[in-house]
Order: sequence, then structure tokens, then C-alpha cells
Amino acid sequence: MAEQTRFPEISLFQGFNEPVRAEADVQDLEVIQGTVPEALNGTLYRCGPETQYPPRLGVDKADFDMLVAYEEYFNGEGMVHRFRFENGHVDYRSRWVRNERFLAQEKARRSLFGRYRNRYTNDELAAELDPTTSNTHIVWHAGRLLALKEDGLPIELDPVTLETKDKVDYDGQVTAPWLSAHPKIDAVTDEMHTFAYQAAGDGSTDMAYYRVDTTGKVVAEVWFDAPYAANVHDYALAGDYVVFGFYPLITDLDVVKAGGPFYQWHRDEKTHFAVLPVNGTAEDIRWFSGPAFFGSHIMNAYVDGNKIVLDVDYSDAGFMAFPNHDGAPYPPPTSFDDIFQLAQVTLDLDGGDAIQVEFKLPQGSNTGAMSRCDDRFVGQPYRHGYSLSMLPGFKAGVAHIDHETGEVRTWDPGDGSACMEPVFVPAHREAAEGEGYLLVHVNRENEKVTDLVILDAQNVDGEPVAVVRVPMRIRLTFHGSWVGDEDLAAGTSYHRPQSEHDA
Ligand SMILES: [Fe+2]
Repeated sequence: MAEQTRFPEISLFQGFNEPVRAEADVQDLEVIQGTVPEALNGTLYRCGPETQYPPRLGVDKADFDMLVAYEEYFNGEGMVHRFRFENGHVDYRSRWVRNERFLAQEKARRSLFGRYRNRYTNDELAAELDPTTSNTHIVWHAGRLLALKEDGLPIELDPVTLETKDKVDYDGQVTAPWLSAHPKIDAVTDEMHTFAYQAAGDGSTDMAYYRVDTTGKVVAEVWFDAPYAANVHDYALAGDYVVFGFYPLITDLDVVKAGGPFYQWHRDEKTHFAVLPVNGTAEDIRWFSGPAFFGSHIMNAYVDGNKIVLDVDYSDAGFMAFPNHDGAPYPPPTSFDDIFQLAQVTLDLDGGDAIQVEFKLPQGSNTGAMSRCDDRFVGQPYRHGYSLSMLPGFKAGVAHIDHETGEVRTWDPGDGSACMEPVFVPAHREAAEGEGYLLVHVNRENEKVTDLVILDAQNVDGEPVAVVRVPMRIRLTFHGSWVGDEDLAAGTSYHRPQSEHDA
């Protein structure tokens, strides 16, 4: 008798989270509020996990471990969502990333991969397969649309049909087995700065930095050694430096081989930062260290005199999906400030090697998760940041942080609603920093639909400019990118207008 496809009855797969598993095309999404700006011509791409098959391991037990459940949430196969804006209309398309893992499971009609990133828990049919889900981010660089996850190489997709093409190793120039899901693209040079962690294999301390030019040529490659086998999820471009944060969420290969979690949190270890000049070598790296914290995402970073400043989504614990190495439970959060809060990290190139951390937002702002900026100003001095903000009832809204005035303005999506990472879109090609819109994926728990909400980025707490309804659920997207029509045609990523910071 054939194995029946049946999802375990746990919250991970119930209610709004019930697996969707379908690809869709909808022309002219319904605009349920406001008016879609006619001048907004381009595409919002978003990437997230969507479960292809019931998990392979451990979820039919009555004593199912919620930690593993949250791991599973990150472990869904990549699905890409394309919102095409054209003269006031929005068309929607979703497609799986048909990478090696997806195709093999499709053929086998079941999950072949076990615990999150733990290859020792996979089916033997998966032994030679690339395990990546390609579910984390999607970026447009050098005329290629790339679906990304940090344990695999980029997977190229057709920007219109979303058809999966090949994995991208830049004609063999990238020898690391995988690349980060958070590359940084310099809007002036249009070069992509990226890296691999644990680049000599799971549990290794090898780091590899690459810079890729507009033709897909690797123009810089630097290998160096990390203090431990950290998770290095995001990193920063700051002027002519790249900055790597090593937070003590660490892979212990013996634990992984025993079927345990891929990461464990080590509060007793220090956090380290490595500052590498983009044209430098491993010998040029400056190291900084301080007490343990976790910096999941970086809003932006820049050089201020002889200091490097990073605005970081700060948490004093590891990603909650991963346990403490000594088995101690995490204290239950009482406010969002307990989970993430925006912190300013300063690394003084003329000072000692201490990491300086400062909390600039008012206590109780509950802001600082999935932070972004106007992508045209990545690595540059900037004023406007965007983030998720936790509102009463633990629902996620969207905040605009004005770094000049210190003001935080928050949009409340309403009861039973949850926002995903906001993506900034300039109002027009020469728009000043922050002049434009935020595009926000909002899930409506009660209606069991997803809305794409367009907010005025200079007035986020006002009425939305428009609310566009997807007549189905998009369970979760992590990250996304806006690609304007001019950039899509030219193969360029971003156009940075002149700013007050240009001397
Ligand atoms: Fe991320």
C-alpha cells in the first residue's frame, strides 16, 4: 500500500499554516482599498518556505518537540512570489524553486531530508543531493534573478515565468559550496558582495568572501578563519569595508552527527566582528569582541570618520528555534524588546577591540526585526530604516525609524494580522532617500488570505496607499526585492540618486 501523504495534526500545519502546496497565477489582483500608484512599474519578488511533503522525522509523536517544529518552519521548500506592477495593475505568480531537493522529493513522493540542515538525518536517497531549500531571499544582480539560502548556491530563475534554471557558481569562480542569503549590492558600482560561512563544510570555521561584478566575474576572493563555527546569517557593507558578525550560535558537528540541532546557543562565548577592507586580504582584517548577543539582521551600516556603525536587530539570545547548548530553557519573553530590539553597534578603527552597543530607540518601542533600509543606500550614511514592530497581542506591525529625529512611527495592520519584512520602493528613479512606498506582505488570520499592502514610506502610520488582496494564503515569506522596470531591462540592480551625503 502506498504511503499516504498526511500532515501531522500540529499547529505548524493547521489554521493559517495549513500547507498551500499550490502554484498560482492571478491577473489583476483585487484592490480592496485605495489606489495602486500608476507610476509604480516593476516587480516585487518575495521568497519563503512552503512545505512540499510532510516532515520525514519525529512529528507524529505525542511529545513532539516544539523546537523541532520551529526548525521545520524554516525548513520548507522555497517558493517564490512575483507581484508584477504595471500602470496601476498588480498581477501575481508563485512558483516552487525546482532545485535538486524539490525534484528528488517530487519523484519520491515524500520528504527525503530530515532535521533542519542535519544531513545525518536524511534518507539515503538524499546522500548525494544538494540539500538547500532556496527559501530565504531573492535578489536581482548582473541580469540574473537568484533564489538564495545560506546552505546552497544561488538558483537562477526566469524573472517573468519564475521557471527554475541552474545553480550559479559563476562559471566555477566560486569554489565555496554555498553562498549567503544576504549579499549586499553596492548601488553605485552595482557589484555584489557575498560570502560563505562554514565554507569548508558543516562545522568548519572557514569563511570565504567574494565580490562579483556586473558581468558575473568574481573580482575579489578572501578566505579567513572564524573564531568558531558560527551561524553568519546576515552581514554588512559599510563604505569600503565588509563586516562579519560572529554570534555564538554554533555548530557542533558531533551533536549534528548524533541527530541533534544544527546550531546551539553558547551564552558563555563572546560575540566577534571582523572588518575586512573590500580590496584587502585576510591579514588586513580588524577584529572586535564583546559580550554574547545575537544580531539576526542588519538594517544598514556605514563609515563615520574612523568608526564603522551598524544598526543591528539585536537579541540577547540565539534564534529561539535553536536550544541552549547546556539544555537550559530560554526565559519566556514578556515584550518584543526581549526578543529583538534595534541596537547601534560601533567599531572604532582607531580605538581598542571592544564592540560598543547602544540602544537608541525608546524602551518599549518593540522594534527591530527583519530590518531593511532604502536599498539604494546600502553601505552609505542614511536616515530612514524600516522594521517589524511588535504590537499588543504579539502581532507584528511595520515601523519607520527616522535616525535623524529618533522618531518611530508604526503601522498597525489590525487584529488577527501579521506583517512580514517591509521592502522599500522609490517613488520614482531620482526619488530622494525614503521618498516612496513600503510593500508589505500581510497575513489575515481570520479571512485566511494574504494582502499586499502599499504604505507611504514617509507616512507609514497613515491610511495605506492601497491594499491588494491575494485570494489565497501565502503562509510565510522571509525576504524580498523590488526590481524596477528600468533595472530589469538593463540588468542593473539599483540606481542611487545624488544625496545630501554626496560630498
Ligand atoms: Fe534573513
